[in-house]
Amino acid sequence: MQAVELTFGRPDQADPHEILERGDIVLFRETPFDMPAAEREFILSVRLNPEFHKNIAFKPNADRISGVAKLEADSVARLHNALRNYSRRTVKLAAQVLPRYQSRWRLDYASLRPVEECGRELPLKKRNDLLHTDAFPTRPTNGDMILRIFTNVNPSKPRVWITSDPFEMLANRYAANAGLAAAARPDPLFGIRKALGAAGLPVIARSPYDRFMLGFHDYLKMNEAFQRDCPKYRFEFPPGATWMVFTDVVPHSVESGQFAMEQTMIVSHESLADPRRAPIAILEKLAGRGLAA
Ligand code: SIN
Ligand code: FE
Repeated sequence: MQAVELTFGRPDQADPHEILERGDIVLFRETPFDMPAAEREFILSVRLNPEFHKNIAFKPNADRISGVAKLEADSVARLHNALRNYSRRTVKLAAQVLPRYQSRWRLDYASLRPVEECGRELPLKKRNDLLHTDAFPTRPTNGDMILRIFTNVNPSKPRVWITSDPFEMLANRYAANAGLAAAARPDPLFGIRKALGAAGLPVIARSPYDRFMLGFHDYLKMNEAFQRDCPKYRFEFPPGATWMVFTDVVPHSVESGQFAMEQTMIVSHESLADPRRAPIAILEKLAGRGLAA
């Protein structure tokens, strides 16, 4: 797998949808939008107590920021603005670069990652330095895909990722062992869970797809042989770079880096140029049954 470098606005380049769908990364060595110097300086001044929060999150749809306990009100307001601006800029960029998905995505959270990743101590399931495909415990996608746009705001240090071969190869090799057959059985309590969740209770109804993907995230992180022996590709995303990737297709881990910003969007799997490449289609083929709710 590879990171394909594109220049924003230049025609006759590889099709970004195709790059993403086959499990590669779209890289803009220079971020195609401006971030005012004052905003960048402020971002670089943010210190997060890792005991309290993993990242600072922004929910664009509610215009709310979280993960900022213990920060002063003035800093919270500036962070909120910076994340809101970042979110708007990346959505605009994504609409220009990925028009095929544009009317078919749901805006998910944005984040600021101000903690140095190298040497970070986190509980196993939250560790960023172990290869994994993404799945969100609180936001099942029902087969839709996790597109993430990252920007390395650090002025001097790259953000370093290790990746592995994309989902199809991984699933062919590990899905059965990771419990696809069990996950594929419909949850008899799905309807009840859904009603309880809709009524505001902390209950999450997951489709068979979401149950598998969540379990697969943990399975990969806990699989020492996979972590040790799988093919590995190393990428240094330079200061000022922006990259896009389907993080449920591309297994990834972070080796080092500090001060990244990120926006997530959930892309309809039906909007892919080739929907057969969506993880849900790959898993349904392996399971021999439908996995959406
Ligand atoms: C992740 O999604 O595993 C983290 C990626 C990053 O923070 O660079
Ligand atoms: Fe991840």
